[in-house]
Amino acid sequence: MKKKFLALLLTSTMVLTSVVFAGCSGKAEGDGDSKTSKDVPNIGITIYKYDDNFMSFVRRSIEKAATDKAEVSMNDSQNDQAKQTEQVDTLIAKGVKALAINLVDPKAAPTIIDKAKAAKLPVIFFNKEPEESAMKSYDKTWYVGTDSSQSGVLQGELIVEAWNTNKDKWDKNKDGKIQYVLLKGEPGHPDAEARTKYAVETIKGKGIEVEELAIDTAMWDSAKGTDKMDAWISKFGDKIEFVICNNDAMALGALSSVQKAGYNNGGDKFMPIVGVDAIPDALTKIKEGQMVGSILNDAKNQGAATVQVAINAANGKDPLDGTEWKLDDKKAVRVPYVKITKENVKVAEDTYAQ
Ligand code: BGC
Ligand code: CA
Repeated sequence: MKKKFLALLLTSTMVLTSVVFAGCSGKAEGDGDSKTSKDVPNIGITIYKYDDNFMSFVRRSIEKAATDKAEVSMNDSQNDQAKQTEQVDTLIAKGVKALAINLVDPKAAPTIIDKAKAAKLPVIFFNKEPEESAMKSYDKTWYVGTDSSQSGVLQGELIVEAWNTNKDKWDKNKDGKIQYVLLKGEPGHPDAEARTKYAVETIKGKGIEVEELAIDTAMWDSAKGTDKMDAWISKFGDKIEFVICNNDAMALGALSSVQKAGYNNGGDKFMPIVGVDAIPDALTKIKEGQMVGSILNDAKNQGAATVQVAINAANGKDPLDGTEWKLDDKKAVRVPYVKITKENVKVAEDTYAQ
């Protein structure tokens, strides 16, 4: 009798233990991918969509920076703000110590801040900068990203430098002006708006006249970039003297379109293309002379800074404790952009080599 009871007790303890273990390490629906270890804070993270070229590098860098320093509950918001807001609720219910949010819609910041406030949790936004009023509404919120306008200015400078060296060939209609088409990122995204504005303003500011043949959004996306460019090539053909892209994914999409049309294959026909991000695929094209250049958007440091600030905030420390970052008057850590051409691709390669 006693023996039987002991056996029963043992089995039920075993069952119990395994249930507890499963509860700890298992992936519950909607919890995202959890990496668990003891004595480190759990950070709840959302990425606006995993299916974004640049964000996949930021995500990797976050995971790397968090190793042994934080548990990471990572969620794919699948470009759906309602889904992201639910994910935030789930993360809060799960007891995370800080939130790091790559918003789907930058205008949703107040909703997320309200939730963080109610739970007394710090919230670090990254990559999509909320409006200043939202940032000011809560003392435990910070932003990690870049100075969006800087990427536009640098891209404008890069265009001018390349144009001045090559204008004999590139100014096809010999009118001294740059006839350009522009592939824009997501409308309303601070990076897309600022890059579009400042790239063009910088060119004009350097005394070069421009003529916009066409501008449209390709939503940061390569395939959409190819579609738009296909249409523009059949409409404008050789009239296009520059292809300005808000990011490299769209620039690579445009490149495959111009190559289909017989340009940028090493022969005489060439259409200069520039992007932003300096992701590895674009660096290959820059080295091969198929793209003119890009602007390094430092995924590695943005990911690392997001984790550092989140861990500090989770531990109730100064957000910059133990780091070399600075906060500006908008409570933002801004990682600098760098101009990349054939001459210095190595700078970007090193940044993306993780
Ligand atoms: C990057 C884009 C990316 C976007 C996502 C931008 O900073 O340059 O490549 O698609 O962020 O929010
Ligand atoms: Ca011209």
